[in-house]
Amino acid sequence: MSQIDILMPVPLPQLVREALDARYRVHKLWLETDKEATLARVASDIRAVATGAPILAEDVVYPISAALMQRLPKLEIVANLGVGYDNVDARWAGDHHICVTNTPDVLTEETADTAFGLTLNAVRQFPRAERYLRDGKWLQRPFELTASLRGRTMGILGLGRIGQAIARRAEAFGVKVIYHSRNEAPDVPYPYVPSVLELARRSDILMIVVPGGPTTKNMVDKAVLEALGPQGVLINIARGTIVDEAALIEALRNRTILTAGLDVFAEEPRVPSELIQMDHVVLLPHVGSASQVTRDAMGQLQVDNLDAWFAGRDVLTPVAETPWLRAGK
Ligand code: 8YV
Repeated sequence: MSQIDILMPVPLPQLVREALDARYRVHKLWLETDKEATLARVASDIRAVATGAPILAEDVVYPISAALMQRLPKLEIVANLGVGYDNVDARWAGDHHICVTNTPDVLTEETADTAFGLTLNAVRQFPRAERYLRDGKWLQRPFELTASLRGRTMGILGLGRIGQAIARRAEAFGVKVIYHSRNEAPDVPYPYVPSVLELARRSDILMIVVPGGPTTKNMVDKAVLEALGPQGVLINIARGTIVDEAALIEALRNRTILTAGLDVFAEEPRVPSELIQMDHVVLLPHVGSASQVTRDAMGQLQVDNLDAWFAGRDVLTPVAETPWLRAGK
């Protein structure tokens, strides 16, 4: 298999690099000073792209666009590290019989843990309480009383695998769950709400778990934040693009909502200074799935998808836009 050429535009975890280097000829585009010249030289040989949303601070997002895929005449498969694949034009790939795989399931529980940690931290203001202790302020007086999870309703926007794992945690914490997604989910015990606006109106905590991309861009806007209201908490572990970030900054500044817990931002890794300066907002550097064990499992799944494809076996996790499992189908 040593003659199979793979394009790796962004740095992927060590495990992935070592596994692919051992079996394929991998073109690591991010290491090249003249990326364009490298691409022009190798484009006609590339049969696979191994990519992912950026996972290191110095990375840039490298979209696997129609324009890029058009330049790779032998391209058969795009294997993405991450369950979200808004960095790949999967519809175009599907129309041109290029398989796209992602890494679902193996990160579900980890990401749901992060979502819940972020929720507790935002509602109970633990990061701020910790800073208070470290600053020696406890010696003067106890930390202020905070909002509570008690008696709260969580509105989950997007009840897929991760959304359902968050819902299970909410139930265990005694938090009522309602949800909105494109379609009503069969066999779930939670009430369905027909619109995002209505979901926000009926929720105290709005939990964003829908995929990114053009269809969900700015889905959570000024009107939704107003509907969430002054005791409302916004949690986003999905994609920054889903929230109108300017409207969110305004809503936090004016106390239109109580607070927010954010793991994702519109232009990662750049986070608006307005958010960084707000002490009551909890901010994480996109660590939803970022434990060693989970990232290893994601990396292994990405490698397994590529290996399966080039061995003529079924891939494990094709995305919905490219449901076929192996070459030639
Ligand atoms: C990762 C994610 O940060 O799976 C996703 O969609 O956003 C995260 O798990 C990222 O994809 C790693 O490349």
